[in-house]
Amino acid sequence: MLLFIKSMRCGVLLLIYALLNSYSLFAQMNKIPQLPVSDNDRFTIIAHRGASAYAPENTHSAFRMAIEMKAEMIELDVLLSKDGIPVVIHDEKLKRTSSGKGKVHDYTLSELKKLDMGKWFSDAFKGEPFPTLEEVLSYTKNTIAVNIEIKTEAVTDNAFDGVVEKTLNVVRKAGVEDQVVFSSFDYRVMRHLEVLAPDMPKAILYEKRQSKRKLPSELVKEYKVDAFNCSYKQLSDKWVKDLTSHNIPFNIYTVDDESKMKELIQKGAAGIFSNKPDVLRRVVENL
Ligand code: G3P
Ligand code: CA
Repeated sequence: MLLFIKSMRCGVLLLIYALLNSYSLFAQMNKIPQLPVSDNDRFTIIAHRGASAYAPENTHSAFRMAIEMKAEMIELDVLLSKDGIPVVIHDEKLKRTSSGKGKVHDYTLSELKKLDMGKWFSDAFKGEPFPTLEEVLSYTKNTIAVNIEIKTEAVTDNAFDGVVEKTLNVVRKAGVEDQVVFSSFDYRVMRHLEVLAPDMPKAILYEKRQSKRKLPSELVKEYKVDAFNCSYKQLSDKWVKDLTSHNIPFNIYTVDDESKMKELIQKGAAGIFSNKPDVLRRVVENL
């Protein structure tokens, strides 16, 4: 009898262990940001760098346009100014998307504020200011969720006092912890978040060298992230099978083509990053 009870107990413990290790249970615990605007279809319309097909990328105009187009999330890129302020811009160098030259990190915020961020796109956006993350979060709060991508160029080995901690401070000050998701191609960011804000939703942006031939589900488990993001060019059928069988949400960038959008939604994408959130919304509404 004693032996029977002992083996039953052992069986129950083994079952609990197996359940705790199963990806599907893990996936159900994935943290997702609140979507202040949502059509509740479990799919997220993400405006890539704002509505960047129609306004200069990563600017207030592009973000406001995305809000008007009823995107459910905006995606933006964060680097640090010389004086350590999280600013919103994609490239490390200023040349492509501003009136400046040189590296973002070599200018203080007040110097960056003198640049024109819109004229390169068109004269209609002349005078567009250099946005800080704090400014953007002041109007996204309770209006739209934000995917904050930490750019590799700003990341250092130390979790403390770097770009991740400074960005977290801005997010906390704005009171939008439940409306943002962090992402990065630099996997050190996942480790830094684990230390500094373990409850913050985070997505890994697939990067080949750091991934060492691992499957998406293996990366998600290893880096304790809530979602897997990659380019539509990288998403193979093998990956789709791996992700869907483990209930891992996957978000795909950057898709402006309607038929590609439909194809990815049918494959089970949780979200798509598009420069044309209006087109993506139309596709979603007409599926
Ligand atoms: O987060 C998706 C996408 O923005 C990643 O690529 O180069 O546009 O930052 P990139
Ligand atoms: Ca980005």
